[in-house]
Amino acid sequence: MVGRARRISAVNFQPVFLAEVAERRATLRTTLATLFPTPQAIVWEVGCGHGHFLVRYALEFPQKFCVGIDMILDRLQRSGKKRDRSRLTNCHFVRAEAREFFHALPSGVTFAEIWVLFPDPWPKARHHKNRILKEDFFAAAATRAGEGARFYFRTDHEQYFQSVFAIVSKLTTWQLLPDAPWPLEHETVFQARAPRFQSLVAVRTASPAPAAILVGPGQPPPTAPTSSA
Ligand SMILES: C[S@@+](CC[C@H](N)C(=O)[O-])C[C@H]1O[C@@H](n2cnc3c(N)ncnc32)[C@H](O)[C@@H]1O
Repeated sequence: MVGRARRISAVNFQPVFLAEVAERRATLRTTLATLFPTPQAIVWEVGCGHGHFLVRYALEFPQKFCVGIDMILDRLQRSGKKRDRSRLTNCHFVRAEAREFFHALPSGVTFAEIWVLFPDPWPKARHHKNRILKEDFFAAAATRAGEGARFYFRTDHEQYFQSVFAIVSKLTTWQLLPDAPWPLEHETVFQARAPRFQSLVAVRTASPAPAAILVGPGQPPPTAPTSSA
């Protein structure tokens, strides 16, 4: 078992790949340092898609600073157009992978709210490792979320919902809030396609959060060297 674990963790990333990742992460750090020149508590939407929800949310709550991320350029461009049509200054969209975004954030940035709406469910068991909402996500998010911060999750995938419910139920850093209201109903593209869905709200407790690293499958660790030399 130990030998197998060692083989899995010792992924030998190619130098060209490591260099590309390092450059992308450095660019993201620069982008985020510009976006957040001073410490700030933000509303973070992971996988914002076409931006329907976040633009509306930023309109409804002008005092909140909203940042949506997604990996698909076209969706972010549409999101940006919606934001611009509404002349919002408290809503930003950044092209980034969630775990890379997390590690590129300036140290003073915290999460007041985290929204994950209809994340990719990766239904096959062998693909569950690709899900964004796993134990490591909540451990990492807790390090940047002060007591009272909220986590909002909605999905039409029953098994994914149950898995997140079970994970959060066991945590000391986050607590489920079964009766908490959903602050704003506004249909997303994937919600419009869903025959039914379930929602979950959790709150960050006062429990201290140990430092945590968030690394997706196939990703080099955040401190990876730029070459394997
Ligand atoms: C099923 S779509 C849902 C989009 C939107 N939330 C909605 O409800 O219409 C999932 C979105 O998450 C994005 N996504 C998936 N994994 C991601 C990750 N690791 N980091 C950032 N975005 C991700 C995808 O590109 C896609 O746009």
